[in-house]
Amino acid sequence: MKIVVIQGPNLNMLGIREQNIYGPMKLEDIHQQMKTFAEQNRIDIEFFQSNLEGEIIDRLQECLGDADGIIINPAAYTHTSIAIRDAISAVQIPTMEVHLSNIHQREEFRHTSLTAPVCTGQIIGMGPFGYHLAMVGMTQILNEIQSLKQQKQAQMAQ
Ligand code: DQA
Repeated sequence: MKIVVIQGPNLNMLGIREQNIYGPMKLEDIHQQMKTFAEQNRIDIEFFQSNLEGEIIDRLQECLGDADGIIINPAAYTHTSIAIRDAISAVQIPTMEVHLSNIHQREEFRHTSLTAPVCTGQIIGMGPFGYHLAMVGMTQILNEIQSLKQQKQAQMAQ
């Protein structure tokens, strides 16, 4: 089972940028916690961060035939990028959208997520813990998909 974690623009600045909104934790520390959870649950995990829309789209496309689940924080592109939404939609892989902050409590332009409607779920406003929740949720979803597949295979074999 493999999960790819995709982080959008300025998330490499966590720990430096607007600590009153995003807190003091660095992206590497968030990823380390996710890695520990993944190891404990025998999940392969890969991390990718980019400030460039096209690179995020390329990484999403590379998930095809490779990743079982995607966890993505598209950051500011959440509110602007039809292209990232289309890429999530195109790969048809269970995808969890995460935002550290509660985007609905903030400026009006952050209230709309163009990507959420094509994601399996969305976790917002929980700070770095939201990534852990996304890992737990995604693991549950992938386990359910796997057992459904096994049930189908068993039925076919009868
Ligand atoms: C964010 C929310 C976005 O509106 C913002 O542009 C970000 C971070 C969050 O995690 O809360 O860069 O995605």
